Amino acid sequence: MKVLLFGATGQLGRECRKVLGQAGWALLTPGRDLVDFAQPETVAAAVENLRPQLVVNACAFTAVDQAEAEPQLAELVNGVSVGRLAAACAELQIPTIHVSTDYVFDGSATTPYHEGSVVAPLNKYGHSKLQGEQLLRMQNRKHVLLRTSWVFSARGNNFVKTMIRLGAQRSELSVVGDQVGCPTYAGDLAFVIGQFIERYQREGNLRWGTYHCSNAEPCSWYEFAQAVMEQGVACGLLRQEPLLQKITSEEYPFVATRPAYSVLDCSKLEARLETKMPSWRQGLERVCAELAGAMPEELPRTTAGAGQAATAR
Ligand SMILES: NC(=O)c1ccc[n+]([C@@H]2O[C@H](COP(=O)([O-])OP(=O)(O)OC[C@H]3O[C@@H](n4cnc5c(N)ncnc54)[C@H](OP(=O)(O)O)[C@@H]3O)[C@@H](O)[C@H]2O)c1
Repeated sequence: MKVLLFGATGQLGRECRKVLGQAGWALLTPGRDLVDFAQPETVAAAVENLRPQLVVNACAFTAVDQAEAEPQLAELVNGVSVGRLAAACAELQIPTIHVSTDYVFDGSATTPYHEGSVVAPLNKYGHSKLQGEQLLRMQNRKHVLLRTSWVFSARGNNFVKTMIRLGAQRSELSVVGDQVGCPTYAGDLAFVIGQFIERYQREGNLRWGTYHCSNAEPCSWYEFAQAVMEQGVACGLLRQEPLLQKITSEEYPFVATRPAYSVLDCSKLEARLETKMPSWRQGLERVCAELAGAMPEELPRTTAGAGQAATAR
């Protein structure tokens, strides 16, 4: 099975490389120098030239606050190029597995969002990802659209690494306590993608459509930070837990507005794959253990980047 993976250097992309590589599929992973999602024609050309049997798109403009300043770039990468990718795949009868976000929702719900819930993004990133969803559905019937949330891993920029870095530097930290969602370990999401590919290989078909995929156990950023600190100490990444202060979103200088509640109902995916999504706690243990065994240059960087890294100060 020849699989074309975009975004192979990102959090999810790296985990996909591991999972799909171990499954023995031939992976094609063109980098940004060859395929730039800010230039949609390069995305279509890659599909036409490489002729894979399946495409996984883990590429995205994920800097939520930065998207407010660069909405056109976010739309090109997360919207227009996804449409071009889907059209190129449809032309060659290739299925597209694509990843989207909980930020397509406005957060006004009080119970978990399901796949058919009304979408109403609050920020430019969410709008650009929604555009990608719509173009994907329009252009390629053979798609699996996985909405996920609060992604973390041992690589790249994410909340876990930011917390460990700040926890090592400070004795006291303020963390937002009024946004609730589901952290998702990139390795668990990559595993799910692998399961879909395996089924496609076995059955020659998939139940196309949208699926929610996040780890179990909703929490606030504050609760997630507590668990990160505990695990950080247990793994020897931190000498002691800093004092955590719970603050509101209003007290934190976000550039982009975030949904207050973005818990995803994953029961459709769980029924389809006959599995239960594990709690994020297991993924957190793995990531902290990986960080504890990492080389110094792999330890948390000092910049807050992807998604929700900037949720504490
Ligand atoms: N991170 C989250 O908390 C979160 C939450 C919900 C949903 N998601 C979704 O989950 C998916 C995976 O996210 P992630 O956290 O793994 O993202 P990530 O770590 O930020 O990685 C993004 C990937 O996209 C590539 N990329 C960005 N702009 C590009 C461009 N113009 N041309 C080519 N490649 C480009 C990056 O390449 P470089 O290495 O060259 O920059 C990187 O490989 C995305 O669809 C994202 O929207 C993420």
